Amino acid sequence: MTRKAIYPGTFDPITFGHLDVIERAAALYDKLFIAVAKSEDKNPLFTVAERIEMISEAVKKYDNVEVESFEGLVVDYAVRKQVKVVIRGLRMISDFEYEFQMALTNRKLNSDIETVFMMPKDSYSYLSSRLIKEVSRLGADISKFVPSHVERKLRGKKDE
Ligand SMILES: Nc1ncnc2c1ncn2[C@@H]1O[C@H](COP(=O)(O)OP(=O)(O)OP(=O)(O)O)[C@@H](O)[C@H]1O
Ligand SMILES: [Mg+2]
Repeated sequence: MTRKAIYPGTFDPITFGHLDVIERAAALYDKLFIAVAKSEDKNPLFTVAERIEMISEAVKKYDNVEVESFEGLVVDYAVRKQVKVVIRGLRMISDFEYEFQMALTNRKLNSDIETVFMMPKDSYSYLSSRLIKEVSRLGADISKFVPSHVERKLRGKKDE
Protein backbone atom coordinates (compact mmCIF):
# COMPACT_ATOMS: atom_id res chain seq x y z
CA MET A 1 0.00 0.00 0.00
CA THR A 2 1.29 3.44 -0.89
CA ARG A 3 0.77 5.87 1.95
CA LYS A 4 -0.19 9.24 0.59
CA ALA A 5 -0.88 12.62 2.16
CA ILE A 6 -2.02 16.07 1.09
CA TYR A 7 -0.61 19.29 2.48
CA PRO A 8 -3.07 22.04 1.57
CA GLY A 9 -2.52 25.77 1.98
CA THR A 10 -2.27 29.11 0.27
CA PHE A 11 1.53 29.26 0.24
CA ASP A 12 1.57 32.96 -0.63
CA PRO A 13 4.55 32.55 -0.70
CA ILE A 14 6.16 29.34 0.61
CA THR A 15 8.34 29.89 3.71
CA PHE A 16 10.92 27.87 5.64
CA GLY A 17 8.06 27.02 8.04
CA HIS A 18 6.07 25.29 5.28
CA LEU A 19 9.27 23.62 4.05
CA ASP A 20 9.96 22.26 7.53
CA VAL A 21 6.51 20.65 7.58
CA ILE A 22 7.03 19.32 4.04
CA GLU A 23 10.35 17.74 5.00
CA ARG A 24 8.75 15.96 7.96
CA ALA A 25 5.74 14.79 5.96
CA ALA A 26 7.84 13.66 2.98
CA ALA A 27 9.84 11.45 5.35
CA LEU A 28 6.68 9.83 6.75
CA TYR A 29 4.63 9.28 3.59
CA ASP A 30 5.44 7.59 0.30
CA LYS A 31 3.80 10.39 -1.63
CA LEU A 32 3.03 13.98 -0.61
CA PHE A 33 0.81 16.27 -2.65
CA ILE A 34 1.21 19.96 -1.91
CA ALA A 35 -2.17 21.40 -2.78
CA VAL A 36 -2.25 25.11 -3.49
CA ALA A 37 -5.60 26.72 -2.77
CA LYS A 38 -6.57 29.76 -4.81
CA SER A 39 -7.76 31.50 -1.60
CA GLU A 40 -9.26 34.44 -3.44
CA ASP A 41 -10.75 35.71 -0.18
CA LYS A 42 -7.20 36.20 1.13
CA ASN A 43 -6.37 38.40 -1.87
CA PRO A 44 -3.06 36.66 -2.59
CA LEU A 45 0.01 38.59 -3.72
CA PHE A 46 1.12 35.80 -6.08
CA THR A 47 -0.96 33.96 -8.69
CA VAL A 48 -1.52 30.23 -8.23
CA ALA A 49 0.95 29.59 -11.09
CA GLU A 50 3.62 31.73 -9.40
CA ARG A 51 3.06 30.00 -6.07
CA ILE A 52 3.30 26.56 -7.70
CA GLU A 53 6.51 27.56 -9.46
CA MET A 54 8.12 28.80 -6.24
CA ILE A 55 7.11 25.64 -4.33
CA SER A 56 8.29 23.34 -7.15
CA GLU A 57 11.71 24.99 -7.13
CA ALA A 58 11.90 24.63 -3.33
CA VAL A 59 10.92 20.93 -3.26
CA LYS A 60 12.77 19.64 -6.30
CA LYS A 61 15.15 17.63 -4.08
CA TYR A 62 12.28 15.37 -2.95
CA ASP A 63 11.25 12.79 -5.51
CA ASN A 64 8.03 11.90 -3.63
CA VAL A 65 6.59 15.42 -3.48
CA GLU A 66 4.21 16.81 -6.11
CA VAL A 67 2.71 20.29 -6.35
CA GLU A 68 -0.68 21.11 -7.79
CA SER A 69 -3.59 23.49 -7.34
CA PHE A 70 -7.09 22.64 -6.23
CA GLU A 71 -10.45 24.31 -5.89
CA GLY A 72 -13.30 23.50 -3.54
CA LEU A 73 -13.20 21.44 -0.38
CA VAL A 74 -10.00 19.77 0.77
CA VAL A 75 -11.93 16.61 1.65
CA ASP A 76 -13.35 16.38 -1.90
CA TYR A 77 -9.91 16.90 -3.35
CA ALA A 78 -8.61 14.14 -1.04
CA VAL A 79 -11.27 11.75 -2.31
CA ARG A 80 -10.41 12.55 -5.93
CA LYS A 81 -6.73 11.85 -5.19
CA GLN A 82 -7.61 8.73 -3.15
CA VAL A 83 -5.74 10.14 -0.16
CA LYS A 84 -6.90 9.76 3.45
CA VAL A 85 -4.45 12.04 5.25
CA VAL A 86 -4.42 15.83 5.36
CA ILE A 87 -1.31 17.43 6.85
CA ARG A 88 -1.50 20.76 8.66
CA GLY A 89 1.19 22.69 10.47
CA LEU A 90 0.75 23.89 14.03
CA ARG A 91 2.81 26.87 15.04
CA MET A 92 1.55 28.54 18.17
CA ILE A 93 -1.43 28.03 20.40
CA SER A 94 -3.00 30.72 18.22
CA ASP A 95 -3.20 28.26 15.30
CA PHE A 96 -4.89 25.69 17.48
CA GLU A 97 -8.43 26.98 17.65
CA TYR A 98 -8.83 27.50 13.91
CA GLU A 99 -7.08 24.25 12.99
CA PHE A 100 -9.09 22.31 15.57
CA GLN A 101 -12.35 23.71 14.15
CA MET A 102 -11.31 22.94 10.61
CA ALA A 103 -10.15 19.40 11.37
CA LEU A 104 -13.43 18.59 13.12
CA THR A 105 -15.48 20.22 10.37
CA ASN A 106 -13.63 18.19 7.74
CA ARG A 107 -14.25 15.07 9.80
CA LYS A 108 -17.97 15.86 9.80
CA LEU A 109 -17.84 16.34 6.04
CA ASN A 110 -15.96 13.11 5.47
CA SER A 111 -15.08 10.82 8.36
CA ASP A 112 -12.63 8.79 6.21
CA ILE A 113 -10.20 11.68 6.07
CA GLU A 114 -7.81 12.16 8.97
CA THR A 115 -5.98 15.41 9.77
CA VAL A 116 -2.40 15.01 10.97
CA PHE A 117 -0.66 17.95 12.66
CA MET A 118 3.04 18.61 12.50
CA MET A 119 5.05 21.06 14.53
CA PRO A 120 7.93 22.87 12.89
CA LYS A 121 11.36 23.44 14.33
CA ASP A 122 10.94 26.02 17.10
CA SER A 123 12.87 28.66 15.20
CA TYR A 124 10.22 28.58 12.45
CA SER A 125 7.21 28.53 14.72
CA TYR A 126 6.58 32.27 14.40
CA LEU A 127 6.80 32.44 10.58
CA SER A 128 3.77 33.27 8.49
CA SER A 129 3.42 34.27 4.84
CA ARG A 130 1.40 37.28 5.86
CA LEU A 131 4.08 38.67 8.15
CA ILE A 132 6.86 37.98 5.66
CA LYS A 133 4.99 39.90 2.96
CA GLU A 134 4.47 42.76 5.36
CA VAL A 135 8.06 43.10 6.52
CA SER A 136 9.40 42.55 3.01
CA ARG A 137 7.27 45.42 1.75
CA LEU A 138 8.75 47.60 4.45
CA GLY A 139 12.25 46.70 3.36
CA ALA A 140 13.31 43.99 5.85
CA ASP A 141 15.90 41.35 5.03
CA ILE A 142 13.83 38.18 4.66
CA SER A 143 16.64 35.78 3.72
CA LYS A 144 16.20 33.94 7.04
CA PHE A 145 12.52 33.26 6.33
CA VAL A 146 12.27 32.15 2.69
CA PRO A 147 14.48 30.49 0.04
CA SER A 148 16.51 32.92 -2.10
CA HIS A 149 14.37 32.45 -5.23
CA VAL A 150 11.28 33.41 -3.20
CA GLU A 151 13.10 36.39 -1.74
CA ARG A 152 13.86 37.60 -5.30
CA LYS A 153 10.23 37.19 -6.33
CA LEU A 154 9.08 39.15 -3.30
CA ARG A 155 11.52 41.94 -4.07
CA GLY A 156 10.24 41.95 -7.65
CA LYS A 157 6.67 42.40 -6.43
CA LYS A 158 7.72 45.34 -4.33
CA ASP A 159 9.05 47.14 -7.41
CA GLU A 160 5.92 46.48 -9.49
N1 LIG B 1 5.95 28.50 10.15
C1 LIG B 1 5.12 27.48 10.05
N2 LIG B 1 5.32 26.36 10.76
C2 LIG B 1 4.45 25.34 10.70
N3 LIG B 1 3.34 25.31 9.97
C3 LIG B 1 3.09 26.39 9.23
C4 LIG B 1 3.95 27.52 9.21
N4 LIG B 1 3.41 28.45 8.39
C5 LIG B 1 2.28 27.92 7.92
N5 LIG B 1 2.07 26.69 8.42
C6 LIG B 1 0.93 25.80 8.17
O1 LIG B 1 0.84 25.55 6.80
C7 LIG B 1 -0.52 25.40 6.42
C8 LIG B 1 -0.83 26.33 5.28
O2 LIG B 1 -0.68 27.62 5.74
P1 LIG B 1 -0.90 28.95 4.92
O3 LIG B 1 -0.70 28.71 3.48
O4 LIG B 1 -2.11 29.62 5.39
O5 LIG B 1 0.39 29.77 5.41
P2 LIG B 1 0.45 30.95 6.42
O6 LIG B 1 1.89 31.24 6.64
O7 LIG B 1 -0.43 30.69 7.61
O8 LIG B 1 -0.16 32.11 5.51
P3 LIG B 1 -1.09 33.31 5.94
O9 LIG B 1 -0.22 34.17 6.76
O10 LIG B 1 -1.45 33.91 4.61
O11 LIG B 1 -2.25 32.69 6.64
C9 LIG B 1 -1.32 25.64 7.69
O12 LIG B 1 -1.61 24.40 8.29
C10 LIG B 1 -0.38 26.45 8.55
O13 LIG B 1 -0.66 26.26 9.93
MG1 LIG C 1 -2.47 30.79 7.60
